[in-house]
Amino acid sequence: MTDIPISRSLSLGTPFSSDPGALQRFFGRTEGLLPLWLAEPYIPLAPSVIQAVQDRAAEAWLGYESRPADVLDAFWSWMSRRHHGVKDGLRAMASPSVGTSIAVLIDLYSEAGDGGILQPPVYTGFKPLVRGTRRTPVRNPLCLRDGRYGMDIDGLRALAANPKNSFMLLCNPHNPVGRAWTREELRQVAEVCAEGGVFVLADEIHGDLVLPPHQFTPFAKAAEGTDVKWASTHGPIKTFGVAGIADTLLVTGDAEIAVAFQAVCQRLHLNRNNVFSLAATRAGYRDGDAWLDDFLQRIRENAERLEAGLPGGVALMPIEATYLAWLDFRELGMEAPELASWLVSEAGLALSPGHWFGREGAGFARMTIAVEEHVLVDAIGRLRSAVDSL
Ligand SMILES: Cc1ncc(COP(=O)(O)O)c(C=O)c1O
Repeated sequence: MTDIPISRSLSLGTPFSSDPGALQRFFGRTEGLLPLWLAEPYIPLAPSVIQAVQDRAAEAWLGYESRPADVLDAFWSWMSRRHHGVKDGLRAMASPSVGTSIAVLIDLYSEAGDGGILQPPVYTGFKPLVRGTRRTPVRNPLCLRDGRYGMDIDGLRALAANPKNSFMLLCNPHNPVGRAWTREELRQVAEVCAEGGVFVLADEIHGDLVLPPHQFTPFAKAAEGTDVKWASTHGPIKTFGVAGIADTLLVTGDAEIAVAFQAVCQRLHLNRNNVFSLAATRAGYRDGDAWLDDFLQRIRENAERLEAGLPGGVALMPIEATYLAWLDFRELGMEAPELASWLVSEAGLALSPGHWFGREGAGFARMTIAVEEHVLVDAIGRLRSAVDSL
C-alpha cells in the first residue's frame, strides 16, 4: 500500500471548508473562523477507501463503467453485519444524492399542493425539497421533554389523518438533534402513517453513525408487518466522508416504487456511474468496519470531551447518533439572530445556528465533532472565552 497523503483539511491544521465562498456567504467572513458547520468529517478517512480511489485513478481509464453487482452485494453484506439488515424482498438502487431520491419520489407519489410532514428542528435540506417540488411543508415538531427529544405521535396521527398530507420526511437517525429512533418509536410512525396512507421517506444517510449502546433501526425493520408505503435512503457519504464523489442508495421493498424510480432515473439520465463512487463504496462497505468502529469511538470521546469542557450556560444535548453536537445556548438568553452573530464575531466559530433547522432550533447551534482533538480543544477554548466576556 502506498502512503496515504494527508488530506487538504488536515494539512491546513484546521478543518477547511472546501467551499470558502459558502463560508463568506453564510457567515460574512472567512478569516479566523473555525468552520464546524457542515455535516462531514475532518479526520483521516478510511485508508481502504482512499486507497481504492487512488488505485482507480491509477488505472488512467475514466470512461463509462457499468455498475458491477459486487457494489450492491457489499452494501447488503454491510447492512447485515452492522445492522442486522434484512435483504429479503428489498431492492437497492443507486441515486446521485439523497436529495435526488427524495425529490423524485415526492414527484412520483404526491400531487402539487400536497402536504409533506417534517419534524423540525430537522436537516435544512428537507424544506427546500418539499417547496421545490411545489408541495407544502407541514410541521410536526419534535418534543423536548426532560432534556431529550421525542416525536409527537398524537400530532403526527392528526396530520396523517388529513388526506392532503401525503408523505413524510423522516430523519432516522435525526440530524441535528442526534436521536437514534428506537424500533418502538419507528413502529409508531409506521402504524400511524399506514393508517393515514402517508408515504414515509426515511432518510437514513446517518444510519451507520449510531453510538453504541444505541442502535440503528432501519425503517424497513420497523415497518415489517404493516402496510405503510416507504422508501429509505442510505449510502457511504456521511459514514466515510465521501460526499464529494459518492452516490447514495435508495432502498425499497416495493417493486412498483423500484421500477418507477428507475424509470425516472433513466428518463433524466441520472444513472451514469461515477467510477470513483463505485470504488469508494465497495471499499468502504467491504473493509471499513474497523475504521468506522474507531471513528465512532472517537466521536464518543469527543462528545465527552466537549461536554466536560463547555462553559456554564452552554449544554450538549445527549448524542446517540451522528457526529453532530447539538448545543443548547438558551441559558445565555440571546435571540436567534443575536446568538448566530455572537458565535461568529465573539467565538470565531462557524456553526450552523439552530434556527436554520426550524424555529424550534432557536437558541441552539450544531457543530461537527468529527475532528482531531486539537480542533475540538480549540473550539471549546473559543466558546469559553466568548462566554467569559459576556
Ligand atoms: C439527513 C441528511 N440528508 C441528506 C443530506 C445530504 O445528502 P445529499 O447531499 O446526498 O442530498 C444530509 C447532509 O448533511 C443530511 O444530513
